[in-house]
Amino acid sequence: MILLTGGLGYIGSHTAVELIEAGYDVIILDNLSNSKIEVLDSLKQITGKKIPFVKGDCQNEALVEEIFTNNKIDAVVHFAGFKAVGESVKKPIEYYDNNINSTLALLRVMKKFGCKNFVFSSSATVYGRAETMPIYEDFPTSATNPYGRTKLFIEEILKDLYVADNTLNIAILRYFNPIGAHKSGLIGEDPNGIPNNLMPYITKVATGKLEKLSVYGNDYPTRDGTGIRDYIHVCDLAKGHVLALKKLESNSGLVTYNLGTGTGYSVLEIVNAFNQVCGNKVKYEFAPRRPGDIDVCYASPEKAQKELGFKATHSLRDMCETSFNFEQKHTKN
Ligand code: WQD
Repeated sequence: MILLTGGLGYIGSHTAVELIEAGYDVIILDNLSNSKIEVLDSLKQITGKKIPFVKGDCQNEALVEEIFTNNKIDAVVHFAGFKAVGESVKKPIEYYDNNINSTLALLRVMKKFGCKNFVFSSSATVYGRAETMPIYEDFPTSATNPYGRTKLFIEEILKDLYVADNTLNIAILRYFNPIGAHKSGLIGEDPNGIPNNLMPYITKVATGKLEKLSVYGNDYPTRDGTGIRDYIHVCDLAKGHVLALKKLESNSGLVTYNLGTGTGYSVLEIVNAFNQVCGNKVKYEFAPRRPGDIDVCYASPEKAQKELGFKATHSLRDMCETSFNFEQKHTKN
């Protein structure tokens, strides 16, 4: 059985679908701080399975021990964590406490129960301002905000843990920019409040919930002056987790992979693609650069392709259509 912490969240819920469809049994632990209990029913509608769910926090070690006592947990996929860059700058203590201490608590319980397989949800943000593109896994790492530093620190903790016990199998997955939604429109990106990220903001403008998009900066040294990112369909990203788990089953030790497409799109290219697909509903205006933003960031997906057989297959059109479909079907004002 696979324990998914934060499994009712955006990436966690899509990974639950892919794991179940690949024949795995999963159990979800989620404190609902940035997800909704209704996702559990949506997962049942999609997979036909009633997924065991425990409401609670990874830092509640007694609760996590109970899960391990009542279930044979073969691996943990750790999604749970605070993830808003801007918020982390304002609330560093909460971010360090939550993200790092929840991971340490989880690792302590895994050790106690002899669970050796761990997949960590990391982020391209650990590359900071990379000098050249595409980004390879052996590039230097750095962080420019507390959120990114928690990801970096946890990666270092996992490397030290592996030195202490090389019978562990650990996959560090560095996500680029996940967007899109399951084709059913039942699950998708549904952040609390005003979205920080580009695509959920676009879909709320397209459905009239927000007035217009602010494009943060059109004076970057890029082909159209707006920021470039490696957008990857969340279902492709989820499939990457299934492949990573299979890699751990072959006693891989500690491995690190970029999960991206290798293609960068600018903000304007995303907006134009979305307007082509969804009928010109996105009004926008140029605004000043957002502090902390980098100009260009996209992955080399070669290592994941070679060692995991990972390949992103969803098109930009599909990323836009599925994002819009979810927003139309699922979220309230
Ligand atoms: C993408 C592009 C913005 C909103 C962050 C984290 C990363 C991960 C994903 C957690 C940039 C522009 C955005 C808007 C805009 N988070 N933009 N108007 O910043 O690349 O990555 O979110 O795992 O770790 O760093 O994603 O979607 O916020 O921005 O113009 O209203 O869209 O400037 O160029 P980002 P994003």
